[in-house]
Amino acid sequence: MTRKTYISILFFFVCFALIFSCKKDPVNKVVVTPPDDSIPETTAFIPPVIKDFRAFPTDPANQMTVQGIALGRKLFFDPILSGDSSLSCAGCHKQENSFSDPRSRSIGIDHLPGKRNAMALVNLAWYQNKFFWDGRVNTLREQAATPIEAADEMHLPLAVAEQRLQNHLEYVNMFWKAFGTRTITKDLITKAIEQFERTLISFNAPYDKYNRGEGSLSASELRGLVIFNTEKGDCFHCHTTPELFVHPSKIFSNNGMDAATTIYDFTDAGVGAITHDTSDYGKFKIPTLRNLAYTAPYMHDARFATLDEVIDSYNLGPKISPTVDPILIEKAQTRLQRTGIWGLNLSQQDHDDLKAFLLTLSDPDFVH
Ligand code: HEC
Ligand code: HEC
Repeated sequence: MTRKTYISILFFFVCFALIFSCKKDPVNKVVVTPPDDSIPETTAFIPPVIKDFRAFPTDPANQMTVQGIALGRKLFFDPILSGDSSLSCAGCHKQENSFSDPRSRSIGIDHLPGKRNAMALVNLAWYQNKFFWDGRVNTLREQAATPIEAADEMHLPLAVAEQRLQNHLEYVNMFWKAFGTRTITKDLITKAIEQFERTLISFNAPYDKYNRGEGSLSASELRGLVIFNTEKGDCFHCHTTPELFVHPSKIFSNNGMDAATTIYDFTDAGVGAITHDTSDYGKFKIPTLRNLAYTAPYMHDARFATLDEVIDSYNLGPKISPTVDPILIEKAQTRLQRTGIWGLNLSQQDHDDLKAFLLTLSDPDFVH
């Protein structure tokens, strides 16, 4: 081999190695020149004032701006945050389903099913800082980091996510505009996503319009509202607040769907698996009842495909387990003494009315 051929071959291999290495996630290689260096001005997000809703809860640790929200929205819909760039947050949290997943179990990029059903994302700003069915994280920004890294979800180390975004001029500019820095960190990624999630506000359901005097409910829907808000249906003990239809202070509950002799008999230990407190086994986050028309299947394990099944199950009365909500047992015992029946004893008409009312909490504006 002549010296010239030798050099040519060497050159060929160096080029090949260079091209090949570019296919992997590049490590901070691209130098980005910002188009304009002036200090960015942010526009504060003005939360809507909604009649009957408590004031929009602000978070001093993450002040919302129009620029931060725009960035968060882009990140939420961008599959760049998954290992093989195929799955975004919105891939499981679908807007037409009120940002829930119509599949019983979500499927991650490695074709692994998740453990539970993906819940709707709606009016999250009013939640009391406990997220997931078992409340294992305290803030939305802390939450946002978990699906990105989770092996059964987007499966991308956050350090790689930072570098990927850093290599996109558009993102560098958006972080600059939102946070006044061109250094993209996981802290800022998750803060932007949190800002966007807090803007997923639903307040135009027929029930809201009725409350504001802008619309009316049918006779059946109104009867359902009474069942919901009285001892007849007993729903209001846990599904209370107007923003979410969850309890104002009780975050988790065991709503008596499963019988269990000991706390170790629950198929899913729920909050108990996180806190290891014996009184938490079998408890789950009380979910919002907003947008139920779009969020089937229901419950943490998606056991019910329809609202009829949900109502039938509550109608049977609570099943006994060590942690079943005492309010359910107390009410069931009173009914038993009074009528000889453990369950709610709803007639078919009551069932239909309650269902009609539940559907008035669905907001078509929100899913389109
Ligand atoms: C593979 C499907 C999948 C992807 C992708 C996904 N999620 Fe989720 N999400 C779920 C599931 C399943 C749950 C419920 C898990 C649990 O409670 O154990 C959930 C729960 C949540 C919750 C909790 C809501 C509440 O009320 O407690 C939030 C917020 C959320 N996801 C936001 C996001 C964000 C932001 C992203 C993108 C960074 C994302 N999700 C990506 C499936 C997914
Ligand atoms: C003692 C508290 C409590 C009471 C009372 C209660 N619920 Fe619930 N509800 C819960 C909890 C906790 C869950 C979630 C349980 C799970 O995922 O396993 C839930 C889930 C639901 C869901 C499923 C929502 C979803 O997105 O998956 C619906 C619908 C529902 N409840 C409607 C009702 C109705 C209607 C009533 C009255 C007949 C009622 N609830 C009474 C605590 C309660």
